[in-house]
Amino acid sequence: MGPRQYIFLGAPGSGKGTQATKLTKERSLEHLSTGDLLRAEIGKNSDLGQRVKSVIDQGNLVSDDLVLELLKANCDIGKKSYIFDGFPRNFEQAKLLESEVLKGADSQAIYFEIDLELLVERVVNRRIAPRSGEIYNLKTRPPKVEGKCDITGEDLIQRKDDTEETVRNRMNVFQETIRPVLDFYREKGALKTVDASGSESEIFTSLLGIVNSK
Ligand code: AP5
Ligand code: MG
Repeated sequence: MGPRQYIFLGAPGSGKGTQATKLTKERSLEHLSTGDLLRAEIGKNSDLGQRVKSVIDQGNLVSDDLVLELLKANCDIGKKSYIFDGFPRNFEQAKLLESEVLKGADSQAIYFEIDLELLVERVVNRRIAPRSGEIYNLKTRPPKVEGKCDITGEDLIQRKDDTEETVRNRMNVFQETIRPVLDFYREKGALKTVDASGSESEIFTSLLGIVNSK
C-alpha cells in the first residue's frame, strides 16, 4: 500500500492550517490547503484567480470541478503523504476525492471538533505570512515583532475573508455542508475526531497519537 493520506475536516478557524504547518515540520508530510492554493491564484491574478476572487471574498464555496482540478495538479499521492486541508467541503467533493485522487489509497480523516461560537474571535484576530505559511493570532499567538513573520520577517497580512460578516457566512456554509462528509468517512471506518477547543499543543499531541498509530 502507498503512503498514507490525511484529510483534515473542520470549521473555519478550527486550527487545520495551524496544525498542518506544525505536523509537516516533524513528519515527512506535505500540506495541501485548497484555500492556500486558491489565494495563491488570486495573488498571481491568473484567469482562475480572477474567476474565484469574489466567491472567496464573500465566503462562499468555489465550484467542485475547479477546486478538484487545482488539487489534482498539485499532488502525487503515489509518491508522498499529504494532509488535505480544506478538501472535501461537501459530499460531492468527498466522493470526487475518493474516485479521482485517492482511488482506494490508505487514508485517515480527522475532524477538528469545536463549538462554532469560539471561532469568530479566533478568525478575526488571525494574521498570516503568505510566503512562510506561518499562522499568527493577535491574541493567542502574536508575532515577536508586530506585523512581521518570526521566520522570514515578511509583512503579515489579514485575509480578506476574515471579517466578522464573512466569517459568519463561512460558518453557515460549513454547517450546511459538513454532516454528509463526516457520515461518509464514518461509514468507511476512516474518521477520527480531535477536540479542537484545547491549546495548540494539546491538539498537536492528539494528532501525533493518530499519525503514530497504525
Ligand atoms: P480555507 O482557506 O480552507 O479556509 P477555512 O476552511 O475557512 O479555514 P481557515 O483557514 O479559516 O481555518 P483553519 O482551520 O485553517 O484555522 P487556522 O489554523 O488558520 O478556505 C477559504 C475559502 O476558499 C473558502 O471559504 C472557499 O471560498 C474557498 N475554498 C477552499 N477550499 C475549497 C473547496 N474544497 N471547495 C470550494 N471552495 C473552497 O487558525 C485560525 C486562527 O486561530 C489563527 O489565528 C490561529 O493562530 C488561531 N488558532 C489556531 N489554533 C488555536 C488554538 N488551539 N487556540 C487558540 N487559537 C488558535
Ligand atoms: Mg486554513
